[in-house]
Amino acid sequence: MSGFPKDFLWGGATAANQCEGAYDLGGRGLANVDFIPHGVDRFPVMMGTKQMLEFESTHYYPAKEGIDMYHRYKEDIALFAEMGFKVYRLSIAWSRIFPKGDELHPNEEGLKYYEDLFKECRKYGIEPLVTITHFDCPIHLSIEYGGWKNRKLIDLYKRLVTVLFTRYKDLVKYWLTFNEINIIMFAPFMGAGLLIDNEETKEQDQYLAVHHELVASAWATKIAHEINPENMVGCMLAAGANYPYSCRPEDVFKAMQNERQNYFFIDVQSRGYYPTYILKEFERKNISINISDEDREILRENTVDFVSFSYYSSRVTATDPEILSKETSGNMFSGIKNPYLEESEWGWQIDPLGLRTTLNNLYDRYQKPLFIVENGLGAIDTPNEDGSINDDYRIEYLRAHVKAMRDAIEIDGVDLIGYTPWGCIDLVSASTGEMSKRYGFIYVDRDDFGNGTLSRTKKKSFEWYKKVIATNGNDLE
Ligand code: BG6
Repeated sequence: MSGFPKDFLWGGATAANQCEGAYDLGGRGLANVDFIPHGVDRFPVMMGTKQMLEFESTHYYPAKEGIDMYHRYKEDIALFAEMGFKVYRLSIAWSRIFPKGDELHPNEEGLKYYEDLFKECRKYGIEPLVTITHFDCPIHLSIEYGGWKNRKLIDLYKRLVTVLFTRYKDLVKYWLTFNEINIIMFAPFMGAGLLIDNEETKEQDQYLAVHHELVASAWATKIAHEINPENMVGCMLAAGANYPYSCRPEDVFKAMQNERQNYFFIDVQSRGYYPTYILKEFERKNISINISDEDREILRENTVDFVSFSYYSSRVTATDPEILSKETSGNMFSGIKNPYLEESEWGWQIDPLGLRTTLNNLYDRYQKPLFIVENGLGAIDTPNEDGSINDDYRIEYLRAHVKAMRDAIEIDGVDLIGYTPWGCIDLVSASTGEMSKRYGFIYVDRDDFGNGTLSRTKKKSFEWYKKVIATNGNDLE
């Protein structure tokens, strides 16, 4: 028998900006994510160092149309139901609800859209897991307010979540406040709508934005529980165990420090206060954050119900300059190549045991239920002549990771409540803007430049995952 609890939440995950499209329909306002182009400018724009706040005819903006899920969600959810999903993780586009972000009243068309979508999930007994902010911020809030470095965004976010929790009280129970909250430190425009005008104040602005998101997250938790005590609110970390390159004490110490750079966010959201190591770092770096008494109280009294995270790869830390020069890629994190691991076509290192380590690290640290809300292999799929797609490489990746989860539950006693592999249907890549970097069980006919019919086709992994769910993780072959 498998070690998965009988009510384990199997499913899949997407995000509005990577699949919805319909960027100018239903009263939706423009958002930071709309302006992140495909191609060489993508990275500097995500970082906030290059500002392109108008659509340029020389650029292609993949978020504008995504995979057109806005119009096709019924077909897509039916396919998720066919796989047996118990849960579907998706995100709200803030600018569908408040087009500019600072209006007093929400856009009914946007609210209705998600209401219909949640009802469609419920029709099949699928529990929606809703990310309130998955990298998107109304562009008006970036331009006029400076993004999350402005404290006023806390109140605007409170307005947003109050509307969401009230309207969807009977439809949604699982919420995530901010996707990969630690990404602010790596991609500040994408993560927090920050436009970087001055390199010298960049880190100060980033930590300010972090503080405002942390406080907003705690407020959201409070409001969610007040509106419906059954609401379950989670934080979300871009996770991945950090290995020292060698047993040199310097490498081990640096790996621990790097780990803390990411844990810091969850330490606050899960334990309710700023850890001393980060306060010391603020002091050393002259970073000044106004943490009011009210902030402290809100943080302390409104910790999250569960800890969720994405896991694609482990990371390696070294101190030797020669080793440091051997960089590889992975999420927004670049790191050192691990000589013991294979890597994906995009250089992301494949490490299922690292998932088990990550699960154990997080459970040891927080002792709260864990939820893996992203995991998967970005790969090129080439359809056969008959249109079928044999993605055995993806099955192999997922099988190894599900086994690692099972070991963490069965052998280590980790409390893991669910698993939503990333991009259960092919969608736009966040880091590269490509469609050819595919994660899905469902193939979408669309290329990197917006060509294709957008038709959906089941891949071989579709049937595999369906069986995994049907047997509650017992049959992984
Ligand atoms: C996570 C994000 O960083 O990784 C997703 O939450 C993203 O939005 C996913 O798509 C995979 O990364 P990429 O760059 O391959 O799309």
